[in-house]
Amino acid sequence: MAPPDFLNHWHPVLKSSGLRKTPVKIRLNDTDIVLFRGEFDRIGALLDACPHRRMQLNLGCIKNDRLICPYHGYEYNISGEGKIPGSENRKIQARNFDAIERSGIIWIKNANVPAIFPFHEPDGYRRIALAHHKIKAPLPLVLDNFSEVEHTSQVHAFLGYDAEKMNEIEIKLETSENSVRLFNKGQQKKVPGIIRWSLNLGTSDYFIDDWTTFFSPIHAVYDQYWTDLNGNVRKDKLKVYVFFNSTVENQTELFTFLYMTTRPFGKFGLNLFIKPAMKIILNMEVQRDKKMIEQLAEKTPEIKGMKLSRFDQALVHIRNRIEKIYLRKENHSN
Ligand code: FES
Ligand SMILES: [Fe+2]
Repeated sequence: MAPPDFLNHWHPVLKSSGLRKTPVKIRLNDTDIVLFRGEFDRIGALLDACPHRRMQLNLGCIKNDRLICPYHGYEYNISGEGKIPGSENRKIQARNFDAIERSGIIWIKNANVPAIFPFHEPDGYRRIALAHHKIKAPLPLVLDNFSEVEHTSQVHAFLGYDAEKMNEIEIKLETSENSVRLFNKGQQKKVPGIIRWSLNLGTSDYFIDDWTTFFSPIHAVYDQYWTDLNGNVRKDKLKVYVFFNSTVENQTELFTFLYMTTRPFGKFGLNLFIKPAMKIILNMEVQRDKKMIEQLAEKTPEIKGMKLSRFDQALVHIRNRIEKIYLRKENHSN
């Protein structure tokens, strides 16, 4: 079996804290992969089928830094090189993937394939949260939701636009061969006073949601901030990275990194409040999106037949690039 093309891109697959002494199975586009910790805590990522007689390796255990297949006891190191206890001169190789641990996440890709690493910690921001969500819907439909702001007036509790002023929202689309950018500016929806006060927002601030979607792998980087009516930018800004993985048919998982601009002294110690509050807000907004997406009448990713609005300008461009870049990377550079 050839290595799957989509795995020519680095994918975040598991929080580091989710992998300890026992192997863990993850799934990407219907491919089962087992992760385990070997020598010096380095990560092994192998196809979750023993090359001997296809037993699930995730059911095995770790001994002497090797993953032991539960069926006949073949022993694999993190590179997939196997030892056969009853035929010591014979070699066996399990399909292995490159795996690294960075920013609290385990990332994998096809072995020995060059790929640009898609994530780095942003300067001038501090990490607020790293969240993992599963949504029962195909990836393109999930990504559609994260590629327009029209739903934010209805679905979101906090990060979004005033339902009465949707027609005033300014939208700018910019595309390149490898990315799709959408800039949105409009009236921030009403939020509780405590949130407004702690983020130094005025009652009629504009909310700017400016994001770019990339396809190697599929992820979007959101810059979210507020301005007053004269265009002065408020100090507190958010940066959100969302990575989208398809696991099995009609299932998508999200890894979300949330950052906020650093405030060295805070406002009356409110930093203590803002961090947990923003974490809750992020989780709440994604849960609300999830609920809505899972209730779609039809979950076909087909775009034909949808009556798209001015807010949906990015959708077609995004679908094209998923096909061209994510699914057939060899035709494109990163
Ligand atoms: S199937 Fe794994 S050792 Fe036989
Ligand atoms: Fe949303």
